[in-house]
Amino acid sequence: MKSVTFGALIVLAASTASSFALAQDVAAGKSSFNKCLACHAVGENAKNKVGPELNGLNGRKSGTAESYSYSDANKNSGITWDEATFKEYIKDPKAKIPGTKMAFAGIKKESEVNDLWAFLAQFDKDGKIKP
Ligand code: HEC
Repeated sequence: MKSVTFGALIVLAASTASSFALAQDVAAGKSSFNKCLACHAVGENAKNKVGPELNGLNGRKSGTAESYSYSDANKNSGITWDEATFKEYIKDPKAKIPGTKMAFAGIKKESEVNDLWAFLAQFDKDGKIKP
């Protein structure tokens, strides 16, 4: 009986630690997103700016933000945005999509890229934060 209680405590401690880490990542990702804000919006009522709104990015096909005028390069890239494709892209956008009109050098720091994804992946297609 005693060992069961002990095991439950460990599970509880571990899950608290990981949700804390996630909250930190999201906060760091939000401040990193300041680098994107000149051109992108995300969240409820996000509109296309210089670049397309980024709601529901996880699982979204490239070039499909409503009424945004993409370059052919972006539209025809055949990419579906998810953790792997996003991370590759944001490190060097012009390498992943040659000919893209996104004028951004990229983010090289692995931890910052992870934080950015943690932040962006929270939003569903209506810009609501997923439970
Ligand atoms: C100087 C403006 C600018 C900045 C800064 C910028 N972007 Fe972009 N972004 C664009 C444009 C323009 C496009 C559309 C590219 C095209 O059509 O070729 C785009 C496209 C994208 C796409 C593809 C969207 C889709 O629907 O296929 C993603 C993802 C993206 N940007 C993420 C980011 C993130 C994350 C940042 C910040 C780290 C960022 N961008 C910074 C202008 C910018």
